[in-house]
Amino acid sequence: MKKQLLELLICPHCLPHEYPFVADIIRERDGDIETGTLKCQHCAALFPIVDGVALLDPFATDSQRATNKYETDEVVSSYLWSHFGDLLGDEHASQAYATWTGLMRPQGGIALDAGGAVGRFTFAMGGCCDFAIGIDTSLAFIRAARQLMRERSLVVALKDEGLLRYEVTIRLPETWPSERVEFVVANALALPFRKKSIGLFSSLNLVDKVPSPLQHLREMNRVTRDRQAQFLLSDPFSWSTEAAPVEVWLGGKADGAFMGKGLANVAALLAEGQGALAPAWRVDAPGHVWWKIRTHSNHYELIRSCFVHASR
Ligand SMILES: C[S@@+](CC[C@H](N)C(=O)[O-])C[C@H]1O[C@@H](n2cnc3c(N)ncnc32)[C@H](O)[C@@H]1O
Repeated sequence: MKKQLLELLICPHCLPHEYPFVADIIRERDGDIETGTLKCQHCAALFPIVDGVALLDPFATDSQRATNKYETDEVVSSYLWSHFGDLLGDEHASQAYATWTGLMRPQGGIALDAGGAVGRFTFAMGGCCDFAIGIDTSLAFIRAARQLMRERSLVVALKDEGLLRYEVTIRLPETWPSERVEFVVANALALPFRKKSIGLFSSLNLVDKVPSPLQHLREMNRVTRDRQAQFLLSDPFSWSTEAAPVEVWLGGKADGAFMGKGLANVAALLAEGQGALAPAWRVDAPGHVWWKIRTHSNHYELIRSCFVHASR
């Protein structure tokens, strides 16, 4: 983890209070902490940094990691194609990330990509602000993103059919400098960042995957600045009880709180002056992109991801 992140970090266990860490750095190279621990000055919780990856998810358990589909080699390979297929010149690649990138106005400050997976949008944000951080609960995703950051290229075995694989090499363009990005394991429901520290916040295809969608938005609002801030949320709104109980969905139901459609409800929450996400956001016209996940050569999932971009 780049040492410069230390000044931004706070203990996610102690939220809503914000206490800084004391870093015990065991091994460091070129400003990168490779091995060490971060200790909360208040509750004394310890968060390790292992092989350069800071593990800052306060809810993570070994058993959860063992059953998380986003930790498997096959899904890592699938997401690497989804994120970087256009760089590979693949005729079937999705243009979704390029469209989302075009929605963000370049500005100074720090970007945070929540649930950023293997890093595509974080790299793109690094190209249009001072520094971009990708967070995800999947260690395998964060490792892949960091490997790309360090080595600038990555050989990926894509599933062809059955047990057959073929290798492709992802190479990052020079417009996405590695000095301007970092990736950490963290949870979107308890972000290890100081309030009002983030200028650009993105949540792509995440809000329907978390056990408390409103808590995700509250955390977004806590860490983003009151002014000169942008927020991009895009999602297929595939609400499911596997991720969260119906009562806490932000849409997809006929009655009760947040009845109706998720996109409209999120836009209304953002625009409310006195609500959970105050100070109010100015919400642009909504839209959608076709986002694609590849399973093997003859199987793709096409997903309509509906977006809202807001600023304040
Ligand atoms: C459907 S994928 C979307 C990935 C990426 N944002 C994109 O659009 O390509 C959802 C991602 O959210 C991550 N995730 C799920 N729950 C999370 C949480 N509570 N905090 C942070 N990341 C989470 C998963 O590991 C996965 O990478």
